[in-house]
Amino acid sequence: MSLMNNLSTSMISSSSSTFLAPTSFNSRTQSVSVPLKSINIVKCVATPQEQQNAYKTKVSRNANIAKLQAGYLFPEVARRRAAHLLKYPNAQVISLGIGDTTEPIPDVITSAMAKRSHALSTLEGYSGYGAEQGEKALRAALASTFYRNLGIEDDDIFVSDGAKCDISRLQVVFGSNVTMAVQDPSYPAYVDSSVIMGQTRQFQKDVEKYGNIEYMRCTPENGFFPVLSKVARTDIIFFCSPNNPTGAAATREQLTRLVKFAKDNGSIIVYDSAYAMYMSDDNPRSIFEIPGAKEVAIETASFSKYAGFTGVRLGWTVIPKQLLFSDGFPVAKDFNRIVCTCFNGASNIAQAGGLACLSSEGLEAMQEVIGFYKENTKIIVETFNSLGFKVYGGKNAPYVWVHFPGRSSWDVFSEILEKTHIVTTPGSGFGPGGEGFIRVSAFGHRENVLEACRRFKQLYN
Ligand SMILES: Cc1ncc(COP(=O)(O)O)c(C=O)c1O
Repeated sequence: MSLMNNLSTSMISSSSSTFLAPTSFNSRTQSVSVPLKSINIVKCVATPQEQQNAYKTKVSRNANIAKLQAGYLFPEVARRRAAHLLKYPNAQVISLGIGDTTEPIPDVITSAMAKRSHALSTLEGYSGYGAEQGEKALRAALASTFYRNLGIEDDDIFVSDGAKCDISRLQVVFGSNVTMAVQDPSYPAYVDSSVIMGQTRQFQKDVEKYGNIEYMRCTPENGFFPVLSKVARTDIIFFCSPNNPTGAAATREQLTRLVKFAKDNGSIIVYDSAYAMYMSDDNPRSIFEIPGAKEVAIETASFSKYAGFTGVRLGWTVIPKQLLFSDGFPVAKDFNRIVCTCFNGASNIAQAGGLACLSSEGLEAMQEVIGFYKENTKIIVETFNSLGFKVYGGKNAPYVWVHFPGRSSWDVFSEILEKTHIVTTPGSGFGPGGEGFIRVSAFGHRENVLEACRRFKQLYN
């Protein structure tokens, strides 16, 4: 990955917070702040001409990484946004694309981090490397907050620097000889890490899929839950609920079927519950609510979208002791080995923040942040509904999945960017099943979401 450029330009952004500001559909005249902000253009794959003539080492490139297509989706979206800003330097670009949080971290949480940070400057308060698996108090708080009465013990929980990092560490545990299934569409980290690990064959352009990955189609027709009778057996099944990008949340009955499917096939489910706290419906928040799941499932989760920790970095992964490989060896023991080898534990300051998140004030504050984004989601859903689009998601996740039947996702992405200066995410970036959709993220300041909706109405009315 090469850092290609670094420029300053104008974009609608985050400095004037409207956190907990009153919501109004009529506040179209609200001003939108346009601070100058430095952004990086990162180009992931293409090699510039001068590099082609440069001195080369004798080290051959990892052939698995070479299989990856273009850039990772989100850097590619960022690259196109940056190119748009070069073309329209004065455009007031609104980003509802990448899905990064915008609202400040509640004070009760940052105060705890500041306190821990200051303590590091004292002899009594200093600490260096901590337990690789996370601090005892945080593991206990995670178990009692999210897994009470589910039979998950404190030491089944591994604290981490985020769910994405754990997804890759899990892939290292599984190695290159396993087979993998993913929801189609799905969060791109599952497929990309699988490719990098060498679990796949080459990308097949005709079907827009990597060989040796089982793509479980999730469409409006099947209620965004795969038809399991048509899914081939794989060793590992990545399953995300509430789902990024479709916003769909699996029901108890569907998850019960998924757990049975995994058990019948001797597969392991990696259940990504990064958006569980966004759930409004009475669906399971954890896979471990399903009887028997402890023998077949791992769960990965994150503070990123609950507390605005996308930059702080803190998540966790649950691997029950009951989950065993075919030779009877506990999966958790191998994960522990990888964590100790490839990671040295989450930041102690971040963990202090995590503990504060789980205090009663912290939980309340996180609910307020989530409530704010859910209100944004409602505004976006209502806008597209009023324009006659078929809209999915939004109720249980901070993503709205908008259908543009018969159109290419990248074309719609470009049309919206060109005509409204709004960045969305093309559905096909999440897998071939996302073609014809765009994902609109609800992470944004209220005035920007309202302004974006006004522009959507202008474009599609
Ligand atoms: C489904 C899903 N899992 C994991 C992550 C990554 O979370 P983290 O910031 O904890 O790495 C994201 C981030 O957008 C996500 O959408």
